[in-house]
Amino acid sequence: MIKPDAVENGHIGGILDKITSAGFKIVAMKYTQLSRRDAQAFYAIHKERPFFGELVDFMTRGPIVSAILEKDNAVEDFRALIGATNPADAAEGTIRKLFATSIAENAVHGSDSDENAAIEGAFHFAGREIF
Ligand code: CMP
Repeated sequence: MIKPDAVENGHIGGILDKITSAGFKIVAMKYTQLSRRDAQAFYAIHKERPFFGELVDFMTRGPIVSAILEKDNAVEDFRALIGATNPADAAEGTIRKLFATSIAENAVHGSDSDENAAIEGAFHFAGREIF
């Protein structure tokens, strides 16, 4: 996902360019807005965290871009491309270093395993929307 902060700040194009330039193929993509119920379900693993309410407010406050990306070693390579959760800790040239503003508003989300990538892809897309 390209999160609401990055959309608001005009970074959709810049982020997609970094992603495709790094060799990822976009196999599904949409511009949409999460409901509170969507965001609570997507981030259910974090529901006991103190920042959960803030996270749901943030993720629902404006549109996002969701996508499924394909590449060898995609999960690990995408996490390297986006950088650390906190942009202050993210390496130079990473998407979060370039485009994120804080640990909460960190521009992008990437799946943390192949298993979660399949679950999160199915959350956003019907089979006929995946190419
Ligand atoms: P993401 O990689 O999408 O996974 C969980 C999200 O919760 C994270 O990116 C941030 O947007 C948010 N998050 C993580 N840690 C914090 C924190 N300490 N305070 C507020 N939000 C956080």
